[in-house]
Amino acid sequence: ETKRMLVDNNLNSEKSYTQAVDLLNNGEVVAFPTETVYGLGAIATNERGVKKIFEAKGRPSDNPLIVHIGTIEEVANYIEEIPENAVKLMDAFWPGPLTVIMRAKKGLLAPSVTAGLQTVGIRMPDHPVALQLLRKLKKPVAAPSANRSGKPSPTKAVHVEEDMLGRIPLILDGGATGIGIESTVLDVTVNPPVILRPGGVTKEMLEEVIGEVIQPTKSQQALESTPKAPGMKYTHYAPNAPVQLIDSNQAVVRDAISKLKNEGEKIALLAPISFENLGADYFFPYGDEGDKEMMSIKLYDDLRACDKTDATMILATATSTDGVGAAIMNRLEKAAGGRWYNE
Ligand code: TXA
Ligand code: MG
Repeated sequence: ETKRMLVDNNLNSEKSYTQAVDLLNNGEVVAFPTETVYGLGAIATNERGVKKIFEAKGRPSDNPLIVHIGTIEEVANYIEEIPENAVKLMDAFWPGPLTVIMRAKKGLLAPSVTAGLQTVGIRMPDHPVALQLLRKLKKPVAAPSANRSGKPSPTKAVHVEEDMLGRIPLILDGGATGIGIESTVLDVTVNPPVILRPGGVTKEMLEEVIGEVIQPTKSQQALESTPKAPGMKYTHYAPNAPVQLIDSNQAVVRDAISKLKNEGEKIALLAPISFENLGADYFFPYGDEGDKEMMSIKLYDDLRACDKTDATMILATATSTDGVGAAIMNRLEKAAGGRWYNE
């Protein structure tokens, strides 16, 4: 009984918004598009609704949710003291793919939203459907990505349907999302601020506005006993077949494919378009070599498409960690569980 409703600019879309608002006000969950990925939302002050998000996703309860708002003014309702850095960042990047972690006022948000932490992540999404929904609802919406826990995040309404059919009452279908990977999560409760999850707003972009920002390296993250973004410790973004990262080098990839096929593997290859004739059973081109925007748009869709094949192994070529590359490599490393191909 999951309904999927197209929301475009015709009159009927008004009805879809009204339904979504009514469901949310009744403590139900609704999936909606943002500029990054689809979110699974409930009113952030309604514990009953928020609990349903965790149930529908199969998400561990120690993993906090991002709160989405429709206007910058609302931040003051939930945050004790808004750091000066945060004000500058909200002005510069909102609406947009930046989640700002700040100290939360006590007792206002549903307890499950913050999962026992004293902080909360807030962002204003840059998508007409998300913004309309928030502005009609006039309440904050807690929303993680609308995938089942562990799966690649949904960048299309059909992905949400694949994961959530029968589990949620409504999906607002706003087409494919524009960025394709989740927001940057930045902790501004410390100085200098720390990137907990890289995303579309890069370290370089942040530093232009507030000066030094820390982006922990993989080895620094490995040293932390408790990850600062609880979600980053879990398996994530993973299709059914195992993923291995591989150097973006045609000779290396060709050899790997032939070797693995000899061992009986069926190979799906995610790589730049120029890698098309290297013998893979299934090929999912990222786009032109170095086109990171295209790569981030396609990544989750391609990982999900691998599940529709009989591939037994997925090879994904790596990219540099400049700019959005940091976010792409972060997601690929998680999808691969850190595994790299070696002969
Ligand atoms: O682009 C996005 O951020 C999407 C769309 C729907 O807005 N949302 C999203 O939510 O990716 P989710 O729940 O899948 O990922 C949120 C990440 C998790 O890694 C979580 O642990 C971290 O942000 N996080 C949330 N609140 C936090 C907090 N108070 N302190 C530290 N990390 C936090
Ligand atoms: Mg997620």
